[in-house]
Amino acid sequence: MDPAQIDKKLVKMFGQACTRCIAEIVVREEDSAARRQPTPALTQEEIDLQALDLHTVGLSYRQIAQKLSVHLATAYARVQRAVRQQKEATREGPSDARALELIKLERMERAVMPVAKVGDPAAVRLMLGIIAARQRLLRVAAAEGLVVIEDNPYGFFARDASFRPTLKSLDTERVVIYLGSFAKTCFPGARLGYALADQEVSTPDGEGTLLADHLAKIKSMTTVNTPSLSQAVIGGLLVSNGCRLRPVNEPTIEFYRRNMRLLLDELDAALPPGRRAELGIDWNTPDGGFFVLLTVPFVADEAAVERSGREYGVLWTPMSPFYLDGGGRNQLRLSCSYVAPDRLVEGVRRLAAFLTDQATSVALGG
Ligand SMILES: Cc1ncc(COP(=O)(O)O)c(C=O)c1O
Repeated sequence: MDPAQIDKKLVKMFGQACTRCIAEIVVREEDSAARRQPTPALTQEEIDLQALDLHTVGLSYRQIAQKLSVHLATAYARVQRAVRQQKEATREGPSDARALELIKLERMERAVMPVAKVGDPAAVRLMLGIIAARQRLLRVAAAEGLVVIEDNPYGFFARDASFRPTLKSLDTERVVIYLGSFAKTCFPGARLGYALADQEVSTPDGEGTLLADHLAKIKSMTTVNTPSLSQAVIGGLLVSNGCRLRPVNEPTIEFYRRNMRLLLDELDAALPPGRRAELGIDWNTPDGGFFVLLTVPFVADEAAVERSGREYGVLWTPMSPFYLDGGGRNQLRLSCSYVAPDRLVEGVRRLAAFLTDQATSVALGG
């Protein structure tokens, strides 16, 4: 492709990702260019570079003009001059331009990620836009794209009632593959789940199709179709509930919610912050789902779970089998999904005794 064409394409892609929202979030999050003001000591060339820097973090020309206390036209001219200077200086080819765009996108991603992680819908949408821009950018270079897999079997089971949209519902660019399960919301024994995969892909013989169709073919060949009885049961549940599973799950959602709160409260009461810090024990506070992850100062392997079961009468799940690279040796998982509350209280009491003994024995060099 003609380098000039690629340049134009890159600028367009970057422009799409640089919404006003990016500018606001980037400015808020990044303690860099956006906060710098020109100082009298700067040369004209340095101020041009500063304007370009502000442009790369997503500010509009109007915002750059405000930051530099100049007219809009001057801000534009400074950015253009800096681009020309940079091009002269680096003799930037298409691959350099692509690399630069990827750096910019990564920078935006780093700035937006903390806000997106707490579920801010605007930030999440932005994050998906950045991923899509990166995906398109990489496709210029190679037939390689990035996708986000949203594995969301616990989406209904948030610890509080605040509504979090799924990534897929915000995905206007078809970057997200969504995986759902009916095992938690309908009936575990049906062993039925689903994938939303509306990405366009090509088959080995060059034909265009949707990823979902491709996956369906692979699935039917590997498992010789999905049991029709399971499909009928789940289909029946969906139809008889107007295809809306959230309302019919309300009592279960409330039960799981109470159990998760109880587990966290009981852990906190059995091992208050000072005590657990002393023992080297910690745990996460999940936003929902069925599990709490504990970090412990001893190896939480099969031998440890056997000791815990035999001597203390409590079971948990070692985390190392969930890792491919040898991680999780000091982590264990507690499940609270369908445990009766009084058993949960008793389980935490026994677990705290086990953890305290193990941690103390490690501290004493045992
Ligand atoms: C994160 C996550 N994804 C997917 C699954 C698979 O769900 P299922 O096979 O029960 O449909 C599970 C099961 O517990 C899970 O924890």
